[in-house]
Amino acid sequence: MYILAIESSCDDTSAAVLRDGILLSNVTASQSVHEEYGGVVPELASRAHQQNIVPVVDAAIKRASIMKEDLNAVAFTRGPGLMGSLLVGVSFAKGFARSLGIPMIDVNHLQGHVLAHFIRESEDDNDQPTFPYLCLLVSGGNSQIVKVNSYKDMEILGQTIDDAAGEAIDKCSKVMGLGYPGGPIIDKLARQGNADAFEFSKPDIAGYDYSFSGLKTSFLYHLRDWLKEDPDFIEHHKEDLAASLEKTIVDILMKKLRKAVKDTGIRQVAVAGGVSANNGLRNAFRDHARRYHWKIFIPKFSYTTDNAAMIGITGYFKYLDKDFASIDLPAYARVTNQNVGQSSSHKTQS
Ligand code: KG4
Repeated sequence: MYILAIESSCDDTSAAVLRDGILLSNVTASQSVHEEYGGVVPELASRAHQQNIVPVVDAAIKRASIMKEDLNAVAFTRGPGLMGSLLVGVSFAKGFARSLGIPMIDVNHLQGHVLAHFIRESEDDNDQPTFPYLCLLVSGGNSQIVKVNSYKDMEILGQTIDDAAGEAIDKCSKVMGLGYPGGPIIDKLARQGNADAFEFSKPDIAGYDYSFSGLKTSFLYHLRDWLKEDPDFIEHHKEDLAASLEKTIVDILMKKLRKAVKDTGIRQVAVAGGVSANNGLRNAFRDHARRYHWKIFIPKFSYTTDNAAMIGITGYFKYLDKDFASIDLPAYARVTNQNVGQSSSHKTQS
């Protein structure tokens, strides 16, 4: 059984092919056009998706060594994300599935990130979590602790009340004039810096929720003061600034996660989303595994940022449940009670 999966929620156009839940191909075209603007420009993103979608899907089908007529279903990201970007993937998926007379499967992008740990590249790739597990989902738009009870039953224990972790990193990087996206740049610099060189404010909020806007402001104000004394402060200290910023964010993320593990008693802990590519966060996971006997799941780098493989595996589980989408199902930018009701049992939210 072959599934074609399509992801176009933000600035990556991606297509994947799976056979019986095993990944055969995963092709992604990233968009460099946003770099000069310091962030994703929605209008440019949808135009680039239009240009990329046909070649990317063609390449995914070719790399899987199949013909499009072999496909049994088309899975696609329905939301949340940028509406103009989503519309390209959703419309393409509808037209493609219709022309082949095969069913469509709508996938929640966040559910895809959380289930990325079930992507299997071969039959003997069997290191997947069992249920329930906790997943720290950290990306440019989300920071959540999700309790995953089954493929389709997920409970958000906590989430950011303002900025996401990736957003905070990107904004601080922009303030330092380091470029976009800031995550990989900060990660690289942090490896050469002293994480205890500077101290930034950490939020003190109840429960499992996160807040990163205070940290961003604290970073900005500190930087302003230091720049008054030394106009080249950033150049002189960029490694230490990156390392200290990264440590602060990782500490905030891990503190709430430790609390969730303690309160739920669930010791299988996964990390997902673009920020899970961060080496400081990955090291913190490994350290917690050793210290607190967690069984951890860290995705391969290629499955941390947006990719169609995770949409494909989520689509595969929905296919087994015969949970198909109707042709008139609209894309959604944000999860609301209304659009959750329209599709299956998604409980993850943006
Ligand atoms: O999941 P993702 O590709 O897109 C969504 O937000 O849905 O995540 C993108 C975010 C950006 O904020 C980017 O800076 C961050 O992930 N990121 C990283 C790293 N690689 C990407 N943050 C820290 N360290 C990295 N190595």
